Amino acid sequence: MSQNLDWSRKDLIDLKPLSRAEIETIFQAAGAFKKALHKKDKKQDYLKGRTVVNLFLEPSTRTRLAFEAAAQNLSADTITVSASASSLTKGESLRDTACNLKALQADIIIMRHSASGAPNYLSKAIDIPVINAGDGSHAHPTQALLDAFTLIDKLGPLDGKKITILGDILFSRVARSNIICLQKLGAEVTIAGPSTLVPEGFRSMGVRVCHDLQPALEDADAVMLLRIQHERQTSTHFPSIGEYTRIFGLNKARAKWLKPGALIMHPGPINRGVEIDSELADSEQSVILEQVTNGILVRMAVLHLCHCHHRGLKIKLPA
Ligand code: CP
Repeated sequence: MSQNLDWSRKDLIDLKPLSRAEIETIFQAAGAFKKALHKKDKKQDYLKGRTVVNLFLEPSTRTRLAFEAAAQNLSADTITVSASASSLTKGESLRDTACNLKALQADIIIMRHSASGAPNYLSKAIDIPVINAGDGSHAHPTQALLDAFTLIDKLGPLDGKKITILGDILFSRVARSNIICLQKLGAEVTIAGPSTLVPEGFRSMGVRVCHDLQPALEDADAVMLLRIQHERQTSTHFPSIGEYTRIFGLNKARAKWLKPGALIMHPGPINRGVEIDSELADSEQSVILEQVTNGILVRMAVLHLCHCHHRGLKIKLPA
């Protein structure tokens, strides 16, 4: 079925430049793929004959596999390249690596990199779609999209909804992309955690900053937990993991501050017993695994839209 969907981007690097309407276009496409999935019509042929390369230069489970599943659901061939198994270890530049991937007939590159800005650089260096699968502390656009898609599925439109993001905000690309995405969709965002990881400077993004858990939790429609990003921290930001958990970990007693029906979310990977108790991660309030499944749908939508625009194709969605 042809749709008059408004999408004119080759790449998805960051959510900042996207309008609310563009985000809703992604959700419209993801919703159509979800309906098709329910009709057992999982496989679409929109990327038949195309090759999608997963260039993952940082570890990943959910994002890499969800992109791979998304590409395969669209009938693309997929290739995964990891840092340790590539000639990047022999000194080849990122640009040369990407140009070689294109010469090897890549049609879309999905990229995760420890350096903020690497996917943006690549998107300007080559003329095929580049999708950011997480760059440094900068952005993780498809994570924020799948989080918002999950929230809307559970809560309805996000206008006026209160979402709390709790944990290591300073080093989190997930937090940055979520703040941008949720605000574009009309939600009010609170960020919470120790002042060393939740600096006052974030107020300039229009969020409420809380260093006490109770006020951060008691009016929230959903709370998103974030793990401590040890791999990005260059100095100590709190005395010990034990103390972090004692003061900021979400446990059963603190979860009582939440409204009945408030959702518990986590982008993964979870450090059980640190930022969240196991019992809560597996509770009925938790939508953590639904987030993972929705990640496939949202990534199918992003791949499809960017590919259609790049090839000048009319956007079709499953009926
Ligand atoms: N949420 C997320 O990015 O998880 P992975 O690091 O496993 O991809």
